[in-house]
Amino acid sequence: ASILVLHGPNLNLLGTREPGVYGSNTLADIDAELQLIAKERGHHLQSMQSNAEYELIDRIHLARPEGINFIIFNPAAFTHTSIALRDALLAVDIPFIEVHLSNVHAREDFRHHSYFSDIALGVICGLGAQGYQLALHAAMDQLNQ
Ligand code: DQA
Repeated sequence: ASILVLHGPNLNLLGTREPGVYGSNTLADIDAELQLIAKERGHHLQSMQSNAEYELIDRIHLARPEGINFIIFNPAAFTHTSIALRDALLAVDIPFIEVHLSNVHAREDFRHHSYFSDIALGVICGLGAQGYQLALHAAMDQLNQ
């Protein structure tokens, strides 16, 4: 099956950005590891990062005609602001798992609300880069059901 991994704003700086909060893995490290795991299990995985809300929206729109079966999404700061990205996911009706590297519930109040959690299949936060791998394993199990 086809899996799309989407990373929101500032995640391109992973590895150098607040390493105490977000860890020392770069986004390229994370994506490469996910690629490997998906390939081993016979799935096709692609990743995309953008700092622009409209690019993420356009990518989600494209996912439907492209035949993407599952999305793993770290919306980053758009988690807490973007009705437009929520609407895009509702529109394409592709199941997704929401991932956050940090435990957003242990941080500032404004990070406690997500525009995605109630429409996500599941939410993983606080486990660093491993959260993406756990999400991928869960996605592949879902796809094999
Ligand atoms: C984040 C948490 C968000 O609150 C923050 O704005 C991010 C990253 C995370 O992965 O922990 O940019 O989504």
